Amino acid sequence: MSVAAAIRAITPPDILARKGGDPIACLTAYTTPMARLVDRHCELVLVGDSLGMVLHGLPSTLGVTIEMMILHGQAVRRGLDRALMVIDMPFGSYEEDPQQAFRNAARLMAETGAGAVKLEGGAGMAGTVGFLTARGIPVMAHVGLTPQAVHTLGGYKVQGRGEDGDRIAAEAAALAGAGAFSLVMEKVPEGLARRITEAIPIPTIGIGASAACDGQILVIDDMLGLFEDFRPKFVRRYAELGRDAGSAIAAYADDVRARRFPAPEHAFADEPAQ
Ligand code: KIV
Repeated sequence: MSVAAAIRAITPPDILARKGGDPIACLTAYTTPMARLVDRHCELVLVGDSLGMVLHGLPSTLGVTIEMMILHGQAVRRGLDRALMVIDMPFGSYEEDPQQAFRNAARLMAETGAGAVKLEGGAGMAGTVGFLTARGIPVMAHVGLTPQAVHTLGGYKVQGRGEDGDRIAAEAAALAGAGAFSLVMEKVPEGLARRITEAIPIPTIGIGASAACDGQILVIDDMLGLFEDFRPKFVRRYAELGRDAGSAIAAYADDVRARRFPAPEHAFADEPAQ
């Protein structure tokens, strides 16, 4: 048995069992090398449809297709030994009816090896969540700011302030009742995050939703400083890789212009002569 096979992979029931326990560390990843790095430290890796914006330069997540998700999902899968891989259902792939959602969720899981899917939406999605979980597809739900609904919401604004919090709390309860194994809450106030976390029996994973949640997820390009088009206020930057890469590329171009690159005799000195 290989070392990789000896490592027990984390499953949706393992994540569910962490409710109220040690906080769950989650990040997005879209490529094999990043997935390898995240796998060493996090319990859950999301192949988020945020890849449309951070990797493909799209203006929102609405243009992301199933084929894009599958390609990146396959790459991420090759980098994971331990973390649970969850894959986003892109806009238009699940909202029509539960049957459409099942067909596309099954395809995403079969073609990428993901252990669960994530879909956005409130109480209106509870029926679909129930349909999928009853057919062997673990579902992570997503409420609060749901980026696929950016046009309906009128922008990437905080959700659930004042009485609107009751609506989001009711949605969270409906999705948990329908069988979701975890719930992403995006950009909601701390009081609402705490209220929902205390009320529902599944782990809440916050993004801009405070430490009152059972875990946190961030878009990896945001926390590494790789995505510079837009900087969410709630993101702590742990590195400035975009800036560092810019400096490295400038230094490289300067070297080339000054002809400071190794001569073949020097670069290949340790290779045997043919
Ligand atoms: O697509 C994504 O990266 C997400 C996270 C922001 C939770 O849905």
